Amino acid sequence: MCGVVGYVGPRKVVGVILEGLRRLEYRGYDSAGMAVHDGSSIRVEKVVGKVSDLASRVEGINLDGTLGVGHTRWATHGGVTGENAHPHRDQDGRFVLVHNGIVENYLDIRDQLESRGVSFYSQTDSEVVVKLLSQIYDGDMLRSLTELGRRLEGSYALVILSKDDPGGFYCVRKGSPLVLGLTEGEGFCASDVPPLLPYTKDVIYLEEGDIAEVRPGSVRIWDKDGRPVERPVHRIDWDVSMAEKDGYPHYMAKEIHEQGTVLRSTLKGRLSESGVDLGDDVHWDGDFLRSLRRINLVACGTSYYACLVAERVLERWTSLDVKVDIASEYRYRDVKIGADTLAVFVSQSGETADTLAAQRKVRSLGGRCLGITNVRGSTLAREVHDLLLLKAGPEIGVAATKTFMGQLGALYLLALKLGWERGDLNPVEASRLAYGLLKLPYEVERVLERDGDVKAAAERFCGYDDFLFLGRGFSYPIALEGALKLKEISYVHAEAYAAGEMKHGPIALLEPNVPVMVVIPKDGLYEKTLSNVQEARARKSPIVAVASDGDDLIDQMADWVIRIPRCEECFSPFISVIPLQQFAYHVAQLRGCEIDQPRNLAKSVTVE
Ligand code: G6P
Repeated sequence: MCGVVGYVGPRKVVGVILEGLRRLEYRGYDSAGMAVHDGSSIRVEKVVGKVSDLASRVEGINLDGTLGVGHTRWATHGGVTGENAHPHRDQDGRFVLVHNGIVENYLDIRDQLESRGVSFYSQTDSEVVVKLLSQIYDGDMLRSLTELGRRLEGSYALVILSKDDPGGFYCVRKGSPLVLGLTEGEGFCASDVPPLLPYTKDVIYLEEGDIAEVRPGSVRIWDKDGRPVERPVHRIDWDVSMAEKDGYPHYMAKEIHEQGTVLRSTLKGRLSESGVDLGDDVHWDGDFLRSLRRINLVACGTSYYACLVAERVLERWTSLDVKVDIASEYRYRDVKIGADTLAVFVSQSGETADTLAAQRKVRSLGGRCLGITNVRGSTLAREVHDLLLLKAGPEIGVAATKTFMGQLGALYLLALKLGWERGDLNPVEASRLAYGLLKLPYEVERVLERDGDVKAAAERFCGYDDFLFLGRGFSYPIALEGALKLKEISYVHAEAYAAGEMKHGPIALLEPNVPVMVVIPKDGLYEKTLSNVQEARARKSPIVAVASDGDDLIDQMADWVIRIPRCEECFSPFISVIPLQQFAYHVAQLRGCEIDQPRNLAKSVTVE
């Protein structure tokens, strides 16, 4: 949830840290701080606010140094205050650290330290960690960090400076991501790849329990027991411009516009009219596919809604028994996993704590796990048996858009592969569907061009404070996703219901101040949804319809119609989600909201 960076090398560290933190700000943005080692002492500066506030703070200060760490925070322990902001230091000023994660036994440790006379200035678990390190330290950093790892429970990515060591920094990783960057004469670390992209594409993902010492041009890594280990160097195929706004006012606008390209690259090389090839990271054979009876799809947030879409297409294209659940529920349920079950975990970041826990549960029950993620080196990618990468490029806006599109693409590939290779679909039909899927990136691009129509709708409806979103069948998960986008970035109360369920409660909310946004493409459930629209209209709710080109009937029912091109029912989610993303974006902009960094949210939720 928080972002950490570290740098050592010839550059002035302040600029490297500020730039790195800007690229990590999607992880948390309630406070920010940095520590700079000037060769003899460590100076700490921190602010409540954003990285830009930290930049203003350090502007007038002469922070000379080429070694330092930085942090952008999403508060967990303790409120948003200067004391609770990172970096944290021990009482002697010998160690300074930044932390991402949650140390679960911090209260016990804090009690023990207090009984030995240690006092605390913050409410954070991170201050407890640095003060524990200070107590453990015996002159040997590796031995002390190994012991620190033994004492801490929970998750942490730590970057640590020592006053007595102006030549480098230390990292410890458990449960929270940490990536090292390698270049000649420099050393970097960060919670994610984007801060490293301006300097290097060669990275090392630290593994569970790893301890690293980073010095200019060199890295040494040990496992949790202090044994030296080698970790592979990965070459990143993202370039720095992929993590820039590219002339768009917000990352979200850019990412919405990239969706045709994202879908194309997710499908590229994996789909033809003669079959589906999920690539070398998926290791199934025909016997395994034919033996399957059940498929469980597990995720959080937007990724969960992608799974709800997939549920419908898997039911249509395969004979499998499909179950979908939210990871935070699934992990505590008495699920039945057998040799005939495939469990699929969908997470754009690959770091969502509940999704990882759900995956570990299935593994412990002997189940086969497929991960669908956008981040190759992520924890999910490394832990699953089989992996399907989205290839969406980095997504910086906190509200997921292009990764949802990539997830739909990946899940449809999965459904088509299962249907085709198990013989659930006849080959002619499978080939026809493959063709339909291959055409979709072009269709997506056509819809994106209609942004102006959606903006006009947003101008008309941005003043309302409550919305009800409705949809049936394939459009129901899209209504859920549309409502989520609206509340996430514009803070407008939006609820989504299966249209047929409206009369069982939410209809009581309807009145002229509560518009109904209905997703109603011309599909097999069109007439049913239209009846629900009439019910809402009878309660004088303004109706905004996302409806197909050529549907004249809807003009008589709705106050405003946002048009989408006609397409085959099972592919409609790819098309209908776009105006809902654009609507949320424009409403947020018109209401003056912080689009890329909505309040209280974080992109990567690494806590339970
Ligand atoms: C957070 C983000 C959402 C995202 C969800 C799941 O809540 O704000 O945009 O959908 O986490 O994230 P994941 O990385 O697992 O897809």
